[in-house]
Amino acid sequence: MDLGLHGKTALVTGASRGIGLAVAEALADAGVRVAGVARTITPELEKVATATVSADLSTAAGATAAVRSALTELGGIDILINNAGGGDGDKLGLEGVLDIPDEQWRNLFDLNLFGVVAVTRAALPSLIERRGAIVTVSSINAQLPAGGPVGYSEAKSALTAFNKRLSEEFGPRGVRVNTVSPGVVGTAIWRGPDSVGAKLAHANGLAQEQFLDAVPEQFGIASGRITEAGEVAALIAFLASGLAGNIVGADIVIDGGTIKTL
Ligand SMILES: NC(=O)c1ccc[n+]([C@@H]2O[C@H](COP(=O)([O-])OP(=O)(O)OC[C@H]3O[C@@H](n4cnc5c(N)ncnc54)[C@H](OP(=O)(O)O)[C@@H]3O)[C@@H](O)[C@H]2O)c1
Repeated sequence: MDLGLHGKTALVTGASRGIGLAVAEALADAGVRVAGVARTITPELEKVATATVSADLSTAAGATAAVRSALTELGGIDILINNAGGGDGDKLGLEGVLDIPDEQWRNLFDLNLFGVVAVTRAALPSLIERRGAIVTVSSINAQLPAGGPVGYSEAKSALTAFNKRLSEEFGPRGVRVNTVSPGVVGTAIWRGPDSVGAKLAHANGLAQEQFLDAVPEQFGIASGRITEAGEVAALIAFLASGLAGNIVGADIVIDGGTIKTL
């Protein structure tokens, strides 16, 4: 399908691996010049990106500097994909509210909410000028708070709300804003060592692979399988394109049927 994106520019955060890398690849395939941001620049990202920016997006200074570099490299931003998120597994506890220190709350809000606010604020003047599009990666945990690490779900709920606000404020100025909320996606968050997946497997007394095999049944995933990064990327590329020209302020779930409510 021709997305009609040839010659456009995009800033993709968290583009070094997982969903962000898959988005960078999908957009580059569609003829988009991509600036990819992460703390570590991988060879896979180097291969598809027009420009790479190494930055820590959990700080306002890092987020602002990253957008500045991308603007210099690309000459302007038509598409912003706010994908960086989650949290470093070694700093993520899966215990309850009484056991989790303030530091975890702050780390998770800094990356999953305030980093996105800072990136978006810095990119908006260019997006307004070019009548661009923003797609932000939230999570089904925004709707299922108890299913995610303490602080993560809450940050994602606030992130979805922030993007809804943006869609109302900037839609009339030509910038389309939407969120995508995935369920379990087969990335480093689940498959990596020291990840949420590894910790949950350990807590359940299972090898990580065994645990991941059991996830669809345990989580009630109607399709019987988890989502792959490329599937999320295809949805994001569509939402960023003119084919989705009147989709504004939507939160699109891609979870194989994990969420049971209307
Ligand atoms: N996988 C899932 O099941 C799932 C489900 C729902 C929502 N999501 C959301 O989808 C998004 C992508 O997740 P993923 O599964 O692709 O995770 P991932 O494989 O861990 O990739 C995360 C990306 O974000 C970057 N990143 C992390 N912290 C950063 C920081 N402080 N500054 C700059 N970049 C940073 C990482 O690169 P560096 O580490 O090199 O910085 C990497 O490129 C996240 O927002 C996550 O919350 C994922």
